Amino acid sequence: MKRQKCKKNKTIQNILDMHTECKRLEYGSPEQLESIELREEVLRKPIGLRFSKEELEEDEQFHLAYIMDGKVVGILLLKPVAEGVLKMRQVAVRPDLQGQGIGKQLVRFSEKWAIDHQYHIMELHARKTAVEFYLSMGYETRGPEFLEVTIPHLEMFKNLK
Ligand SMILES: CC(C)(COP(=O)(O)OP(=O)(O)OC[C@H]1O[C@@H](n2cnc3c(N)ncnc32)[C@H](O)[C@@H]1OP(=O)(O)O)[C@@H](O)C(=O)NCCC(=O)NCCS
Repeated sequence: MKRQKCKKNKTIQNILDMHTECKRLEYGSPEQLESIELREEVLRKPIGLRFSKEELEEDEQFHLAYIMDGKVVGILLLKPVAEGVLKMRQVAVRPDLQGQGIGKQLVRFSEKWAIDHQYHIMELHARKTAVEFYLSMGYETRGPEFLEVTIPHLEMFKNLK
């Protein structure tokens, strides 16, 4: 138990020592292609699925990433779905860096980005296992549980104003 705590503190210290930034990735750029590998690893492989070519046609969506020492370690996509409304999707943090605050920082960055670009509502389909994560950032659930990519989800939303 003690060793684990030390290891976590060391990881946090390592993160503090590294150069990190959140930024929008250009669709088709090397970093955006790198982010697909991260999404495949975190969101698809564990449930035995792969992205199809059609699914990756996402040039009309905004790709926001958390970069650490030049590597994409966190990613999320924002898809315009109605006037002033974005759907947050494909939220993923590199497995060995989860639980260190990266997801939270990236979601906060995306909310600011949304407000700066005249969006005021964020919607998402949360995997049931991640609902607590979004609740901790002020998102609310609505409607019944449903299945997507074979796993249980809940619809969530947040008014950004
Ligand atoms: C869900 C995910 C994006 C969260 O990113 P993260 O960097 O691990 O989360 P953070 O460290 O920023 O956590 C922020 C808060 O949420 C909590 N949290 C994070 N993941 C959680 C989970 N799965 N269940 C419950 N709480 C969680 C943390 O305890 C933390 O709370 P605190 O601020 O009170 O300390 C990341 O764990 C991940 O990629 N998971 C696998 C893929 C996935 O489920 N994506 C979401 C699909 S909808």
